[in-house]
Amino acid sequence: MIQFPDGFAWGSSTSGPQTEGRVQGDGKGDNLWDYWFSQEPNRFHEGIGPEQTSGFYENWESDIELLSATGHSMFRTSIQWSRIFPLGEGEVNQSGVDFYRRVFERIKSKGIQLLVNLYHFDLPFALQEKGDGWENRATVEAYEAYARFCFETYGDLVDRWITFNEPIVPVEFGYFYDGHYPHKVDAQAAVRVAYHTQLASSLAVKACHEVNPAAKIGIVLNLTPAYPRSQHPADLKAARIAELFQAKSFLDPSVLGGYPPELIQLLKEQELLPAVAAAELQTIKEHRVDFLGVNYYQPLRVAAPRYLPHPEAPLMPDRFYEPYAMPGRKINPHRGWEIYEQGIYDIAEMIKQHYGNIEWILTENGMGVEGEERFRQDGVIQDDYRIDFVKGHLRELHRAIQDGANCKGYLMWTFIDCWSWLNGYKNRYGLIELNLQTQERKIKKSGHWFKTVSQQNGFDA
Ligand code: BG6
Repeated sequence: MIQFPDGFAWGSSTSGPQTEGRVQGDGKGDNLWDYWFSQEPNRFHEGIGPEQTSGFYENWESDIELLSATGHSMFRTSIQWSRIFPLGEGEVNQSGVDFYRRVFERIKSKGIQLLVNLYHFDLPFALQEKGDGWENRATVEAYEAYARFCFETYGDLVDRWITFNEPIVPVEFGYFYDGHYPHKVDAQAAVRVAYHTQLASSLAVKACHEVNPAAKIGIVLNLTPAYPRSQHPADLKAARIAELFQAKSFLDPSVLGGYPPELIQLLKEQELLPAVAAAELQTIKEHRVDFLGVNYYQPLRVAAPRYLPHPEAPLMPDRFYEPYAMPGRKINPHRGWEIYEQGIYDIAEMIKQHYGNIEWILTENGMGVEGEERFRQDGVIQDDYRIDFVKGHLRELHRAIQDGANCKGYLMWTFIDCWSWLNGYKNRYGLIELNLQTQERKIKKSGHWFKTVSQQNGFDA
């Protein structure tokens, strides 16, 4: 039996924009996704956009019953900024405010610890339209006001706050790789957006503690060490730079209170350093997170770039490193991602050795599967592959905890199959199956299994 420490939390994560959906008259404003879908639906898998999510806005009561039915002792979701402030600032949408209160109260009444994230890639569109979104310092102020409003309104119900989910993702995909709106290709803007996001996060930490000094607030980062292809100095350098961009750019300021000197030097050499005020750096220094959320799906393997860049090509991270597909790697055949369970152990060691062994929660881990209906038997999806996936990662997490990791819980992505940005419903991750046509929910084999794991606080090895 693999047994976890007393009080270890079990559950799942999701987000507002991926579950709630749009209902006529709900008063929600458009966020980047709503707007982008209205302009370019062809960008979205099978033309499925953000209004067609799993309908949590209407089904929240029965969905919360399913949290208990699948053994949740902890649950993470996010508030949609554009549901509270339709224009990102100014007028409040009271029905949105009331909706989250009802939901949070019900979750708490079930004895489930509640983690609430304030931002999951979902900037109110008005702030993008008006002032270039996160490129503009004014968005930092609007976010701070929104965050403060949430702390004051829901502070009695929320166990842990989260400032941002995976803040590097909108930077990469929105400003380098043409994958998220506003799909610019502009390194200067990317760096500014990253800096403003970090500043907003630190200001939210400050506001949260001002409202309630005892409140806990963290940030969720998609972390993995960067594994070099080889010990060749060029590969090692590539891995170091990849780690600076992908992990340390938010990890260091959030946990240690400052940016790594090597990252600053690199940005300087590329003439990319944004304008910063000394007072802002002081805010980042003083207002560090209380805990970390770690999302881990697959390792980052990199190699030195093979080619010199075209002299006129825009600056991209691949000038410094390129992805490396390690021969013989274990693969999730339904998603094409590598499976490397030891990554969890390595992350735990990294946090222990370099980040003061700060308290952390594994806030996302899971297995996306395309065409999952083919695994249905006797009416239930027999997702033994998902159970194996989770067991493999839990073994490594358990080993890390035995070696001193300060991890307090394991949250899967996700409880009910949900809409996933450009991927729509292609990759199903849920413990619970969603029938998109009928909106029917049905617990998968993994959901029943997960409940026993939670009840026993462990599983048969
Ligand atoms: C995580 C995000 O990185 O990956 C989620 O926080 C997302 O929002 C999840 O849904 C799965 O992504 P995908 O593209 O495989 O559906």
